[in-house]
Amino acid sequence: MSRHFLFLLGSSRPDGNTELLARRAAEQLPADVEQRWLSLAEHPLPDFVDLRRDSDHVHPAAGSNPALLLDATLAATDIVIASPLYWYSVSGLTKRYLDYWSGWLRMPGVDFKARMAGRTLWGVTALAHEEEEVADPLIGTLHHSAAYLGMRFGGVLLGNGSKPGDVLKDTAALAQAKTFFAGEAPLARYPYEKQVTDGARDTQGVAAAR
Ligand SMILES: Cc1cc2nc3c(=O)[nH]c(=O)nc-3n(C[C@H](O)[C@H](O)[C@H](O)COP(=O)(O)O)c2cc1C
Repeated sequence: MSRHFLFLLGSSRPDGNTELLARRAAEQLPADVEQRWLSLAEHPLPDFVDLRRDSDHVHPAAGSNPALLLDATLAATDIVIASPLYWYSVSGLTKRYLDYWSGWLRMPGVDFKARMAGRTLWGVTALAHEEEEVADPLIGTLHHSAAYLGMRFGGVLLGNGSKPGDVLKDTAALAQAKTFFAGEAPLARYPYEKQVTDGARDTQGVAAAR
């Protein structure tokens, strides 16, 4: 199956460090891999409304930002969340996009969970803090979201920077960017599932409605 990468830019400023780092990594993708780049700031989603207990989520109107993002997500084999570190996790724009996954999971005819299973989630982030472990909540958010949907997880590429352009001075991050998308992307498993072998996944507890 040919690969189609969707890059979702979650910064609230243009041309920031996260995008610069993501573009460095994307330069290494083979020419036959399709790339689509969408800025969540340029395609803002309305506030997410949780309708799970009241009704089904209806399919978004054609031409709307939710429809654009749903269609782009379903068309991708690989989804790259390129979000700066905001308060140790993903940016608000990114979080709202992830919240929409909950609606898409309950949208008749979309079959979101089955269609996302086996696809790959990747992360790219820039942060001002020098110590990368402060980004663990962002990594956990993306990893566990992948696990919930039965997706593969390729990890998170981290770069340091505060002002736009700073990340280009982070030589270690630029070196990691060269091979990031060539890395392993195993099926994501919750920490408590680690004993369970592939193909015998214990989904007990996972089915709690998202
Ligand atoms: C709302 C907000 C929250 C932030 N929170 C953190 C944080 O928790 N940890 C950190 O190291 N940097 C934090 N930063 C700094 C950004 O992660 C940093 O400037 C990064 O380079 C921004 O990426 P961008 O250029 O792609 O927008 C924050 C910046 C903003 C605007």
